[in-house]
Amino acid sequence: MPPSTARAVIDLDVTGPTISKHLYGHFAEHLGRCIYGGFWVGEDSPIPNEGGLRLDVVEALRALDIPNLRWPGGCFADAYHWRDGVGPKQDRPVMVNSLWGDVEENNHFGTHEFMALCELLGAEPYVNGNVGSGTVQEMSEWVEYLTRDGDSPMARLRKANGRDQPWKVPFWGIGNEAWGCGGHMRADTYADLASRYATFLHNHDGNELYRIAAGAADDDLAWTEALMKAVSCLGCTSRPRGIFQAVSFHYYSFAGDGISKGSATEFTDEQYYRTMVKAADIDRVIAGHSAVMDAYDPQRRVGLVCDEWGTWWEAEPGTNPRFLYQQNTLRDALVASLHFDIFHKHAARLRMANIAQTVNVLQAMILTDDDGGLVLTPTYHVFAMNKGHQDAASVPVHLVEKPAAVTVGDDGLDPLSISASTKDGKVLVSLSNLALDTDTTVRLDLRGRAVTAARARILTADEPQRHNTSAAPDAVAPADLAVTLRPGALGAAELVAVLAPHSFTTVELDLA
Ligand code: AHR
Repeated sequence: MPPSTARAVIDLDVTGPTISKHLYGHFAEHLGRCIYGGFWVGEDSPIPNEGGLRLDVVEALRALDIPNLRWPGGCFADAYHWRDGVGPKQDRPVMVNSLWGDVEENNHFGTHEFMALCELLGAEPYVNGNVGSGTVQEMSEWVEYLTRDGDSPMARLRKANGRDQPWKVPFWGIGNEAWGCGGHMRADTYADLASRYATFLHNHDGNELYRIAAGAADDDLAWTEALMKAVSCLGCTSRPRGIFQAVSFHYYSFAGDGISKGSATEFTDEQYYRTMVKAADIDRVIAGHSAVMDAYDPQRRVGLVCDEWGTWWEAEPGTNPRFLYQQNTLRDALVASLHFDIFHKHAARLRMANIAQTVNVLQAMILTDDDGGLVLTPTYHVFAMNKGHQDAASVPVHLVEKPAAVTVGDDGLDPLSISASTKDGKVLVSLSNLALDTDTTVRLDLRGRAVTAARARILTADEPQRHNTSAAPDAVAPADLAVTLRPGALGAAELVAVLAPHSFTTVELDLA
């Protein structure tokens, strides 16, 4: 295919809403080998660990500055009873994880282990409570156990289990997928339950909870409306009732028809583009939820949280299909980079997002083996390259000339996606070229501030199926990219970058 060209105008002195660092959040469920074998190997493991937590995994994730970690599910959250996971390990009851493989769960990774993991990662905890099979009292007491200082029944129990000081727990989920594995409820039923549970999730001793009601699947806007009705009224400009502070939704991308999700590593050009169309459609979905929320909360006090997103493929051949272990190719990386551009665009309403899931499950950052091997996936590199967007001010990008859309069945896909932000005297521009076989030369007109230097990195490979394995850990890894920075029209700077097909590029600019 002949190369294409594009031009974008970026006004460096006109900034938009802050991109919350929490859009780069993560998710770890008791599912397959995410916790056991992923994060947790146990104190007696020959694999280097601190208190049972695998240190190479921690070290790799620390490099991403992950802002928050959601746990213990997912669907598992509504089957989990936190008291089973505290106290001496030998006394903890064994349960069956019926949802994910029907395997035994020994509860060796529980509340204290999760909080220790968050401390090692430098991530803020996002605990997801159990509505489906739990009680209001159970959830209320979990909050008390974690966050209450001084003397109280749950604070005493925590101390007896070896932790004197309360923890800080900013984020709290009220059940999960209540329309499905969380209880197959109707939206109004759940909205009432969420209000009831949230009422008894108290702020103890200065720990301010950000309570997140379990939200919609994809574009089920009626679900979001039911939740918004519980805290506000149509057209209200008064402050929403502070029962819960956010509503969530979940969104997964795949290439297949929903029955067969398709292989992670073997896919056609058509399946590649179908995946990108699905990933790009999260823009419409977020816009839809935001419009509903705007009608009930025009001042945007209630947050929207996408606490599960990512690719979902058939499990790797030879693995337990319910363990959701999948490889991760350059295609997955481009789904991530495209999502981030869209998340940045919606930063005014979207306050948090959590990729599913961090280790060994679905669109993971890290794949481990039981012999101590560890592979960083292409998706990991997108999180690393995009780190500078965390808590930066978004900078709108005006794409004034763009490559022709790719036709995918009845859909059209814009093959070029760009977002930008600024922080600490620097600008970070992210550019995804989704075209499979077209180089794109992009000219960025950088106006409003003087730019003194530019550095670029690119993530690509000879084909989008390329992925990292223990034999070839760097088959997809970032490399430096030469770009041209030169004076442009009207005193602006012009940056020219040639984006390889199926590639993700970041450009960091120094401002004078
Ligand atoms: O991430 C895997 C599962 O997907 C989660 O447990 C559930 O919430 C969703 O359906």
